[in-house]
Amino acid sequence: MFLKNIRLIHFRNYEQLNIDFYPGINILYGRNAQGKTNVLEAINICANGKSFRVNTDSKTIMFEQNEAYIKAAFERNEQINHIEVLIEKEKKKSLKINGIPARSLRELLGNLYVVVFSPEDIKTAKEGPSLRRAFLDGEISKIRPSYVDALKKYTRIIAEKNALLRSKRVDKKEIMLEAYNEQLESYIKMILKNRKAYIKKLNEYVNETHQEISGGTEKINIRYKESIPEESIRETLQKLVKKEIADFSCAAGPHRDDIDIMINDKDVRVYASQGQLRTLMLAVKTACLRILEESTGERPVLLLDDVFSELDDARKKNLLKALKGIQVFITTAGTEKIESTEHVHKFEVSGGIITPKS
Ligand SMILES: Nc1ncnc2c1ncn2[C@@H]1O[C@H](COP(=O)(O)OP(=O)(O)OP(=O)(O)O)[C@@H](O)[C@H]1O
Ligand SMILES: [Mg+2]
Repeated sequence: MFLKNIRLIHFRNYEQLNIDFYPGINILYGRNAQGKTNVLEAINICANGKSFRVNTDSKTIMFEQNEAYIKAAFERNEQINHIEVLIEKEKKKSLKINGIPARSLRELLGNLYVVVFSPEDIKTAKEGPSLRRAFLDGEISKIRPSYVDALKKYTRIIAEKNALLRSKRVDKKEIMLEAYNEQLESYIKMILKNRKAYIKKLNEYVNETHQEISGGTEKINIRYKESIPEESIRETLQKLVKKEIADFSCAAGPHRDDIDIMINDKDVRVYASQGQLRTLMLAVKTACLRILEESTGERPVLLLDDVFSELDDARKKNLLKALKGIQVFITTAGTEKIESTEHVHKFEVSGGIITPKS
């Protein structure tokens, strides 16, 4: 699939934008703070329902305005589809798919497939486990929208169970916990099954993409660390009851799990350099794109925010080669020696105006 056109009204620093893109590599270049990343943000909102920079949609509304509008036209199976997003202050955003209102995020997912890499993603490898869980859940949701439902229900039950554990009422606590655990079992199973299957696939692809980009031979190994073994969910929950009552909170479950990422058997959190982390996450995201393609039969669009300018020339070249056949959006503050070719198209971004250069 590919993104053909995007229209913006009062989105970030874009008063009005209406621009066509190409199926190959689209390079958005220009000085800092001109609106390059804002375009990627708008594309991602249409695809995945949220910004990759802020949690509050209303921050994307142009200063002094009351609403922002995004419309994306993308080609899929030789047909043009449209996604519209209207963001209003203090309201839930409204979505339309081919003119028909969509009621939930779940309906939006599965239309336009997009994978994003932004400099923030380095944190996924480096910082706390919640970012790694969010990354994993986000990617799985794109493939399997029913996973979103399971995750939501699981989170709600955990919240209720925690509230019970914190409550002063002591009588019948064990019986009530038993009832919660019974409900939790199938959701935990579903979440673990999907997360572990995803990690398995990620391992298969990530080394390939990593070697393509780095030109090196380092070996990446990603491991899922579960706090409740998949084979004995009920028994483990049962065993934890006394501890949970004593601690006033849930002791284990997918909301406590983590992922280990190793390069040549060394934990990246402790040993990897900035450059290594960047190349690693770039390879991880490219692997995510391959997995999404394999699962959906559609080749997703890749958004690369600000990675290009930081790669050395060899890696830049390797990256472009590895991305052949994929529609990619690359933002860069360097005006570049990159030449326009049949596959590489340049756009200059300046003060919320985009000018095609090839
Ligand atoms: N809600 C908003 N309304 C109007 N302008 C905004 C809004 N949010 C951000 N901006 C403006 O958008 C600009 C930043 O855009 P963006 O992040 O896309 O820059 P960029 O071209 O990617 O820059 P860099 O090269 O530094 O990454 C800033 O000038 C900022 O003031
Ligand atoms: Mg930027």
